[in-house]
Amino acid sequence: MSETALPSPNATTTAGPLLSVEDLHVSFPHPTGSAVEALRGIDLTIARGEMVGVVGESGAGKTTLARAILGMVPRPGRVTRGRVTFRGEVMTELEDDARRAILGRDLSMIIPNPRGELNPVLTVGEHIGNVLRHHRGLDKAAARTAALDLLRAVAIPDPQRRLDAYPHELSGGMAQRVVIAIALACSPTLVISDDATSGLDVTVQAQILDLLKALIRANDASAIFITRDIAVTAHFCDRIAVLYAGEIVELAAVGTFFDRPQHPYSIMLLAAFAYSSELRRHWTRPPAEEETLPPGGCSFAARCVRRQQRCLMERPALRQLPGGSAVRCHFPVGGAT
Ligand SMILES: Nc1ncnc2c1ncn2[C@@H]1O[C@H](COP(=O)(O)OP(=O)(O)O)[C@@H](O)[C@H]1O
Ligand code: SF4
Ligand SMILES: [Mg+2]
Repeated sequence: MSETALPSPNATTTAGPLLSVEDLHVSFPHPTGSAVEALRGIDLTIARGEMVGVVGESGAGKTTLARAILGMVPRPGRVTRGRVTFRGEVMTELEDDARRAILGRDLSMIIPNPRGELNPVLTVGEHIGNVLRHHRGLDKAAARTAALDLLRAVAIPDPQRRLDAYPHELSGGMAQRVVIAIALACSPTLVISDDATSGLDVTVQAQILDLLKALIRANDASAIFITRDIAVTAHFCDRIAVLYAGEIVELAAVGTFFDRPQHPYSIMLLAAFAYSSELRRHWTRPPAEEETLPPGGCSFAARCVRRQQRCLMERPALRQLPGGSAVRCHFPVGGAT
């Protein structure tokens, strides 16, 4: 693999964190009149070169967070409070033209179902070439040469031939590599991968994630790895953010998180990861005991084996712990209250 074939990263224009998400709230109107609060006060910063995993079950708000970072919450959803700042630009307030200039060049997203992402009437070379011509101003010949380098970098077999292939001629794994090549074409400073390898064969998934990590590291870029699979974060990330019902409930360095998880929901996730039925039984409130609780308390209370009266009355804040972790729980497992 020729990692050096990639163009050099775009210069950073500001000091401080690369990405800063502050008190971000996103809501979607619901036909019944009430709104779905998809994100409820997300605070997260990403440093240059850092890889942060975002985990949580389906519906937790992971994709909404990714889209809000891109400044692309789908209508009728909207950001109701807070903001996202990327390299000094407030993404949540940018005009469409200014945002389009950033997306695909400095900030790119990789999503699953790669074939759905690719235009069936364009060749692989045209897909990559269009991005290079639009964002880097290359002429047709230079774009083709650079596209070939990118296909080599993402370890596509027989890259010369694949340049002229159409999406239907690619396997799922190969199409995903092409989508990664497109996402990395302009050496973005931040790559967001939203469950990008789900649906692929486990071996192919591991190969692609390894490759993605190597390319991101080679580019000195940062990444947000969104996944339902906590094992992915163990292997690929520096920090992990656990999302539950639109809130970050735990944020920690990966080593700290796996050694000493603090939030009851994190332990439920880890029990599933460790295939430990005993651990899972111990930490899961039987469904029969789950109940609809009055709003205003902890969003995890209905499922939590540790809940106490205070949890029903008072929404826990995300509190900083010694060592740089943070947890949203009145009675974290490590004992700090
Ligand atoms: N386009 C949309 N319209 C209405 N509700 C949405 C839309 N997108 C997401 N939601 C709601 O926002 C919440 C979070 O969804 P999502 O961000 O897709 O979660 P995840 O990616 O973690 O599965 C869910 O309750 C979902 O129903
Ligand atoms: S605040 Fe209470 S209900 Fe919520 S996770 Fe912590 S112990 Fe459980
Ligand atoms: Mg999603």
